[in-house]
Amino acid sequence: MENFEFYRPTRYVFGKGLENETGKYLKESGFRKALIVYGGGSVVRSGLLQRVKSSLEKNGIGFEELGGVKPNPRADLVYEGIRICKEKSVDVMLAVGGGSVIDTAKAIALGVPYEGDFFDFYLKKATPKEALKTCVVLTIPAAGSEGSDSTVIEKEIDGKVVKNGYSSPLNVPLFSIMNPELTFTLPAYQTACGIVDMMAHIMERYFTNTTGVSVTDRTCEGLLQGIIENARIVIAEPDNYDARANIMWAGTLAHNNLCGVGREQDWATHHLEHQLSALYDVAHGAGLAVMFPAWMEYNLKHDVMRFAQFASRVFGCSMDFEDPERTAREGISALREFYKSIGMPLSFKDIGAKAEDIPLLLNMLGVDDENRTEGKFVTLHRSDCEQIYSIAARYGS
Ligand code: NZQ
Ligand code: ZN
Repeated sequence: MENFEFYRPTRYVFGKGLENETGKYLKESGFRKALIVYGGGSVVRSGLLQRVKSSLEKNGIGFEELGGVKPNPRADLVYEGIRICKEKSVDVMLAVGGGSVIDTAKAIALGVPYEGDFFDFYLKKATPKEALKTCVVLTIPAAGSEGSDSTVIEKEIDGKVVKNGYSSPLNVPLFSIMNPELTFTLPAYQTACGIVDMMAHIMERYFTNTTGVSVTDRTCEGLLQGIIENARIVIAEPDNYDARANIMWAGTLAHNNLCGVGREQDWATHHLEHQLSALYDVAHGAGLAVMFPAWMEYNLKHDVMRFAQFASRVFGCSMDFEDPERTAREGISALREFYKSIGMPLSFKDIGAKAEDIPLLLNMLGVDDENRTEGKFVTLHRSDCEQIYSIAARYGS
């Protein structure tokens, strides 16, 4: 196990009706004026936005509003949010929504005290010294942004869409209010995308070269099993509170680094996927359902026993000690079967992606056959990434 520090000071406020206490938590922390950030309207239709606003009013917290965040959030709205915060003396960000909304709020929080372009941080051209605090009312368990130190934003630069992440302790939310009932309205497709994403967050950490990490291995495996078990329930019974609650908490644990400490992490699949969501505006989880099995197939031989362990412990495949590769391949098939069973795509065709765009995807990813590589479990050069995209493109055709 590698040395590590684990400090994730987010206050999780979990359970029924607690969004009505949002104003109280903001007041306790001494804030005066929030910028409420939200998406394309689900929180308006459900009445959640109104309940949150009433709670702020009850506690004497002023607010401004910024709606219209799109999935795969764009930089334009971040600039708009920074302008509002500066003009109206906003002192805290309040994200009411999912990963796209939270990431937009985090980006605004970074941009307000910075003189330059906030996207400098995402291009690794600058490092922020300070940021406003971000608080969250979560409506979809998926990205894990409610407990993560990351934000992912899209910006068009020289006619090319760049989707980049930026990680920093400054991005860790101050508090996240998590009421599983708020997720009852999620369409099955969004529910499933979230499930794929949280599983991917665990698997990016699970496939590692670090040895001596059996506790985090087991934590990953147990969480994956819990997600699969509850996923089947929430898809069939969208208003099953306990299943929604388990999925919601799993989404946070999958990405607050509890299962990633002390071990090298990979993250190539996420970066391969981000190019798909940037180019085709496909949901991040749907893109991951296509890319993760392809990444696994390509890298299987690097550590067959790890893939076989995944197959046997997560999906219950019987371990073939004579031919562990058979078990490993069964695990990949079981993963694809599971994705299919919850209505997720498996191939390029299913998400409207095209094999002829692979060179463009590789350019967007920014890899070459020298120093610009992806991944830690296996170092992937441009030619490797090309083959992984090709596996995803060929699958099912
Ligand atoms: O916009 P509205 O109308 O609110 O609808 C949203 C949106 O269309 C809908 N939705 C959310 N809650 C709902 C609901 N519909 C009905 N009832 C509810 N309770 O769901 C759709 C998707 O929302 P979005 O916020 O985009 O989903 P998600 O949480 O999956 O976030 C995806 C984004 O997060 C990034 C992804 O790349 C993507 O841009 N990620 C962020 C990470 C982080 N910050 O740590 C890590 C992840 O790996 C990921 O990259
Ligand atoms: Zn993700």
